[in-house]
Amino acid sequence: MTITGRTAVYGVVGYPVGHSLSPLFQNAAFEYLGIDAVYVPFEVKHTDLSSALEGLKASGVKGLNITVPFKEEALTLADEVSNEAYEIGAVNTIKFEGEKTLAYNTDWIGFLKMAQEVEDLKGKNVLLLGAGGASRAVMYALKRAGANVFIWNRTLERARRLAEVFGGEAVENPEEALKKVTVIVNTTSVGLQEDEPPLFDYSLIEPYQTVIDIIYKDTPLISTAREKGSKAVNGLNMLLYQGAESFRIWTGCEPPLKVMKRALYLHLGIKDSPRTLQRI
Ligand code: ATR
Repeated sequence: MTITGRTAVYGVVGYPVGHSLSPLFQNAAFEYLGIDAVYVPFEVKHTDLSSALEGLKASGVKGLNITVPFKEEALTLADEVSNEAYEIGAVNTIKFEGEKTLAYNTDWIGFLKMAQEVEDLKGKNVLLLGAGGASRAVMYALKRAGANVFIWNRTLERARRLAEVFGGEAVENPEEALKKVTVIVNTTSVGLQEDEPPLFDYSLIEPYQTVIDIIYKDTPLISTAREKGSKAVNGLNMLLYQGAESFRIWTGCEPPLKVMKRALYLHLGIKDSPRTLQRI
């Protein structure tokens, strides 16, 4: 890669961003298509999003991904917001166009593409675990795909609110809905850390149930489901597909998905196999 005075700059704004995998596959895409651009991480303090966006725009940065903890705040700082981002209430993609800051959400498409690789969601009963920030894009995608959603959250009130906004049924415990669903989706942060207590007894999962986690490594939920013979996917492809859609918005080009995927999977030492992701 040769950086010149003409090289366009893109990046990801968040805190922390040190572990972000997005530079890997976004830079692979630019390189493959011969686009003179780089994608870099910008670690921004919690109080500094507004000044950071102004500064990046003033510096000629072309576009950004927005990640934790800024997705909701970014919505309030944009000049124009896509319908999807507005309905979801969160932004993960920004494009600077002249003086304007345009905001989008591609998380929901990322989720939908990932989920549809393993399951047709239309008319399916789905148990959504979690009602936090990340759950909104997933809920939006599930409803758009025509799923019936039961929502469980540790704090029941948040599940009720999500159900009210998007249409769905809040349940008081996961087991209550488990028997009624063929798809289970985890959007809580449980599984990120080692040795966390499970959200429910995962051995209750049946082989006919499909399990999806938006955490991008295998969690105990995913591993147990796979052991039980269920289709189970972690969120790595959601990360990839949301990034690919951001790339499309910034460049207007078809994202070179295979190239992006190869860069990501190679870095993580993962070999792609039909329904599961296995370590080499
Ligand atoms: P994010 O934006 O990443 O979704 P968040 O808004 O803090 O972050 O949401 C985290 C989600 O994980 C919430 O659904 C949270 O449940 P609460 O609303 O009750 O806080 C859920 N979560 C986090 N730790 C949990 C735990 N130990 N058990 C169950 N749910 C948990």
